[in-house]
Amino acid sequence: EQIEKGGFDHFMLKEIYEQPSAILDTFRGRMLPNEGIIKMSGIEDNMKTFLNANRIIVVACGTSWHAGLVSEYIFENLARIPVEVEYASEFRYRNPVITDKDVVIAISQSGETADTLAAIKLAKSRGAFVFGVCNVVGSSIARETDAGAYTHAGPEIGVASTKAFTTQITVLTLIALRLARAKGTISSSEFRHHMIELELIPEKVKKALESDAYVKTIADIYKNSNNFLYLGRGYNFPVALEGALKLKEISYIHAEGYPAAEMKHGPIALIDENMPIVVIATKKGHYEKVVSNIQEIKSRKGKIIGIVTEGDEQVKALADHVIEVPETIESLTPLLTTIPLQLLSYHIALMLDKNVDQPRNLAKAVTVE
Ligand code: G6P
Repeated sequence: EQIEKGGFDHFMLKEIYEQPSAILDTFRGRMLPNEGIIKMSGIEDNMKTFLNANRIIVVACGTSWHAGLVSEYIFENLARIPVEVEYASEFRYRNPVITDKDVVIAISQSGETADTLAAIKLAKSRGAFVFGVCNVVGSSIARETDAGAYTHAGPEIGVASTKAFTTQITVLTLIALRLARAKGTISSSEFRHHMIELELIPEKVKKALESDAYVKTIADIYKNSNNFLYLGRGYNFPVALEGALKLKEISYIHAEGYPAAEMKHGPIALIDENMPIVVIATKKGHYEKVVSNIQEIKSRKGKIIGIVTEGDEQVKALADHVIEVPETIESLTPLLTTIPLQLLSYHIALMLDKNVDQPRNLAKAVTVE
């Protein structure tokens, strides 16, 4: 096992650090920025179905559901296709309205999650085309779907999902870009620009990982907190949910993720000097609005941990701590902002002496209901 961990203390940490190469493996061979090409056989072979779809319904559970939520922003913004993101467990029992004009995208790291599998079977029985985004080759979901794309993240052992999440977002971005180009909802120069930016992401993830030692010092300050709040907007709202989930899963600290603007409808009541609040406040995307949320938190004495774009001054002046990530285009920020949140949960769990790789009560794949 020590050998499998490749010199890291835990699988989770190894998998966090594998993300630059995992993301590269996910787009390698599928994206050729210089030639202006994205090619994925599962999409090319079914292009008509995708282009004729009235909407995309994403079904998933857990972290994969969060990747699905990020994809809602990506698909709608780039490809102008309406997207609904569903918890597979709710979808399967709701008697949902599905037609043969719907494309269902099922996202699953393991490809074995019982609820997701059942949701796929239901969608197929109603005539929908089902596309799988899985990590495990030959898994039940990969076999059950009409077509699909693998994430190529390599085996993920830590129960708390990390590289599966970022590679799922990568695959979903490639799909959205390919469809956007086919539909003509983005120009060829925008298309190329997105590809060039995506190609730079592995190096930028490496850079984001350099915050590790600093994140550890923040973990030490807040490790005994009973609650955490995570806030983000737009593409980074799902990242806030994912950051909170990571903390809950392995440190057993109660954490809530919220859209930053919804703070005033509830969570703001929780804020006092004992409440650490992680705010994703990268430069692109509603930055000024998030800054005013930060001001509201500060006036209530909440402790602010800002996830900011390199060189940020405004949030730095307000927050108790800021963790910098490299700059990128807005749609790709989740691939960077999620990195310090993974590290924060890892370090807190470790400091609290929890079983990082195998947290209590959780399973890597939930194959029963
Ligand atoms: C379990 C795991 C999570 C995972 C979820 C969905 O709860 O502990 O890490 O996100 O299942 O799993 P899947 O394999 O379908 O992505």
